[in-house]
Amino acid sequence: MQIVNTVQALRTLIHTWKAAGKRVAFVPTMGNLHAGHCQLVTAAQQHADKVVVSIFVNPTQFGVGEDFDSYPRTEAQDQEKLQAIGADLLFLPSVEEMYSPTAKTVVSVAGLSELYCGASRVGHFDGVATVVCKLFNMVQPDVALFGLKDFQQLTVIRTMVNDLNMPVDIIGIDTVREASGLAMSSRNGYLTPEQRQTAPLLYQSLCAAREAMVAGLDYMSVEKNALSTLQNAGFQPDYFHICRSVDLAPAQQGDTELVLLVAAKLGKTRLIDNLYFTR
Ligand code: PAJ
Repeated sequence: MQIVNTVQALRTLIHTWKAAGKRVAFVPTMGNLHAGHCQLVTAAQQHADKVVVSIFVNPTQFGVGEDFDSYPRTEAQDQEKLQAIGADLLFLPSVEEMYSPTAKTVVSVAGLSELYCGASRVGHFDGVATVVCKLFNMVQPDVALFGLKDFQQLTVIRTMVNDLNMPVDIIGIDTVREASGLAMSSRNGYLTPEQRQTAPLLYQSLCAAREAMVAGLDYMSVEKNALSTLQNAGFQPDYFHICRSVDLAPAQQGDTELVLLVAAKLGKTRLIDNLYFTR
């Protein structure tokens, strides 16, 4: 696996691949890689000849008081994992390489970025859209893979790619979970042993909500029940919403493609999860 730190070195390498007719897949990450990230890389290998992974803890998607400084940085272990699964190129830029101090442009997917996680993390999705747009321009991949775990993020990126005619196919990959059902996340490492016992309830609340919906309970009661279950278990729920999966608008009875979105804090750790299903 080759490792590059500059946009110029990245472009030179990718240019030689493209000139040789190779198809390039891209998996952007913030590192601290776990089985969820590795699943994206393995899936990427099915879609292209070469797989590029980036690790960049992007400051512009963290708000004031969020965990940018304490976000786990585990570069050596990450490199070993990527080497072992056969990634071709790791792009590891510095903040200075990614952002010019005079930069003035922000990519913003209006509306969608202010909902749900965007309401409590103001500016977060502008940071995500901007960095992903920049990374796409640097890598120029044929295909890019993202986890369904971050469903709203995936929807923001699909919308950006569609609205701006970016020549890249976006593929969503299923959430990888621990045996308990807890979605794998770099932030799970912040949980205390007791919180780890409670955390799987987040996914259980999604499964219970789906069952209640199938049994015919109205959507408002489903959301209310889920919120109080989480609260009683010691979470501080942020939201629990039943949405149309295509645009994340609130679901109406009769909609068939649905996603349940949840975010809740356990102590200081903010966890998110979701469940996609059709009716
Ligand atoms: P990060 O949280 O490192 O996630 C990188 C990719 O891995 C995202 O597409 C995310 O949805 C996916 N992922 C995380 N946990 C997963 C799991 N349990 N199962 C499957 N996929 C999972 O998301 C980001 O970084 C950043 O916002 C980024 C897109 C890199 C922009 O900075």
